[in-house]
Amino acid sequence: MELNRRTLLTGAAAAGVTAAAGGAAHAAGGRKPVKSLFGTLADGTKVYRWSLENGGTRLKVLSYGGIVQSLEIPDRRGRYANVSLGFGSLQDYVTKSPYFGALIGRYGNRIGAGRFTLDGRTYQLSVNDDANSLHGGAQGFDKRVWDVEPFTRGTDVGLRLSYTSADGEMGYPGTLRTKVTYTLTRSGDWRIDYEATTDRATVCNLTSHVYFNLAGEGSGPVYGHELSIAASRYTPVDPGLIPTGELAEVAGTPFDFRRARTVGEDIRVAHPQLLHGKGLDHNWVLDKGVTGRPEHIATLRDPASGRTMRIATTEPGLQFYSGNFLDGSLVGTGGSVYRQGDGLCLETQHFPDSPNRPSFPSTVLRPGQVHRSTTVHSFSA
Ligand code: BGC
Repeated sequence: MELNRRTLLTGAAAAGVTAAAGGAAHAAGGRKPVKSLFGTLADGTKVYRWSLENGGTRLKVLSYGGIVQSLEIPDRRGRYANVSLGFGSLQDYVTKSPYFGALIGRYGNRIGAGRFTLDGRTYQLSVNDDANSLHGGAQGFDKRVWDVEPFTRGTDVGLRLSYTSADGEMGYPGTLRTKVTYTLTRSGDWRIDYEATTDRATVCNLTSHVYFNLAGEGSGPVYGHELSIAASRYTPVDPGLIPTGELAEVAGTPFDFRRARTVGEDIRVAHPQLLHGKGLDHNWVLDKGVTGRPEHIATLRDPASGRTMRIATTEPGLQFYSGNFLDGSLVGTGGSVYRQGDGLCLETQHFPDSPNRPSFPSTVLRPGQVHRSTTVHSFSA
């Protein structure tokens, strides 16, 4: 049975499920987010963790990287689990995080050779993934301290995060003023609104890098999760994970998630594309394209717990990364070691390497324009 969020809350209360430590808002119209010190960076900057709750969803966000440090949702019996991979300490985020929970900018995923040409001028970016630039370069938005302002608006609660990236930072032209709003709605949806402006022509592709495990972080691989993606095509890549430019049909390949099936079903198929990224690590070309309003594009479900996440977005692409590079060398939030496939990312985005692919939807942002995108995660069980 699919319970809606209101039923769940009542069920949780009836089952005596307790609120998170530190108290929490109940039901609709949650109260103001609560701030606590999470750690201090080497230069003395204090990093805070904000806790918010609404409609049965609990979120903990760091001012460092805008990182989702914890995302708790109930199962079909009202039992909560943290469904996002992460760490318990700031030090781990600073020194060894593979972008756990982080905001990604200025450019989600890879730009080939870390180089692009715009209006006749070539820009060399920070290269941090062999010869390529990944997730904004060596010091991307995931490693910046964001200004965070809490808000309540009607029945919504949330955080407004802002970061201004200087002209030339990581090689990108233009001062990029970035605002990201995390909202928890009364029905427990987690909504992300991205906004950016520039004072010189530049490129911009912002996303969120949460690793989901709907059975709970640290509980083992996600291969039994069921996934559907509303995409008939994907962008094949070269051995460096840079798109070849082709939009290939998913039909008859391990990339066909048009109907829900388990993440692990084809993960060991000897398809040449799976060898490049040691599993699934590709951009799906969403059938709906760029839209003015978020439209449903993917559903992830853990059959054992019933936890289900639906994703809607305005973006034209989805990077589905099956946690292939987790290698058992990191100890997560709950004290368990993360191994390959223990979490997966579903990153709404424009396509990788778009600045070098005129046929892909454009990521160019010019003075006077506002970059806007929205992604909504809805939970049920
Ligand atoms: C990329 C992977 C990369 C990972 C970093 C994903 O978005 O698609 O190739 O290894 O981020 O943790």
